[in-house]
Amino acid sequence: MLPFLHRMKKIIITIDGWSSCGKSTLAKQLAKSLGYVYIDSGAMYRAITLYFLRNHIDWTDVKEVNGALNNILLHFEFNPKSQQSEIFLNDENVEYVIRDLVVAEKVSDVAAIKEVREFAVAQQQKMGEQKGIVMDGRDIGTTVFPNAELKIFMTADSAIRVERRFKELYEKNPNITIEEVKANLELRDYIDSHREISPLRKADDAFVLDNTNLTMSEQFEIVFLRVAKVLL
Ligand code: CDP
Repeated sequence: MLPFLHRMKKIIITIDGWSSCGKSTLAKQLAKSLGYVYIDSGAMYRAITLYFLRNHIDWTDVKEVNGALNNILLHFEFNPKSQQSEIFLNDENVEYVIRDLVVAEKVSDVAAIKEVREFAVAQQQKMGEQKGIVMDGRDIGTTVFPNAELKIFMTADSAIRVERRFKELYEKNPNITIEEVKANLELRDYIDSHREISPLRKADDAFVLDNTNLTMSEQFEIVFLRVAKVLL
């Protein structure tokens, strides 16, 4: 954390955008430099989806969905080894398993369900009560924190996004193909931006960051200037 920051007011920073455009990388950079908490809201939808899949929940049935949500407890814990906050589903660390394509293939359907969104959004809003938070997702600047002090909407060329996500997933599973990854990103982006409740869209007051041709440090510098403007 930068030394003078502990004396400054704390704000909420939201980062929304398309799949695999580097939201979590930027969010982690910002949280680390500001001494803020980073919350990956997508991890919550992924963990709920994992629970539904494991327990064979029919998510077209509202009663089953509500029953299942009553049995789900989610929390984040900071892991000093990975230097990341990791998600727990009913006391099991599921940070790694939720990244699997099996979960990614269903998560956008699950995340479109009204009851699931209400469940997740209520917890996300609670996490932001003390401010000092960077949260990434799809509806953070529009629905979860419409009054956030700094909103970023991220985008990047789709071929680059596919390549980035393919590299990440290939390290864990060399059987994965680039076609599968591409199809999944396209499907999720479509469902996420066309669903009825809180679809992915840029908040009117969000700053657009296209990082197709930016390095990680370049994108950080651009955004950090925006943060400084809000803080100073
Ligand atoms: O890492 P990536 O951008 O591919 O996805 P993620 O942040 O892990 O989110 C997984 C999925 O959760 C998204 O495709 C959305 O369907 C859903 N999601 C959402 O609906 N609202 C959010 N605030 C965050 C994620």
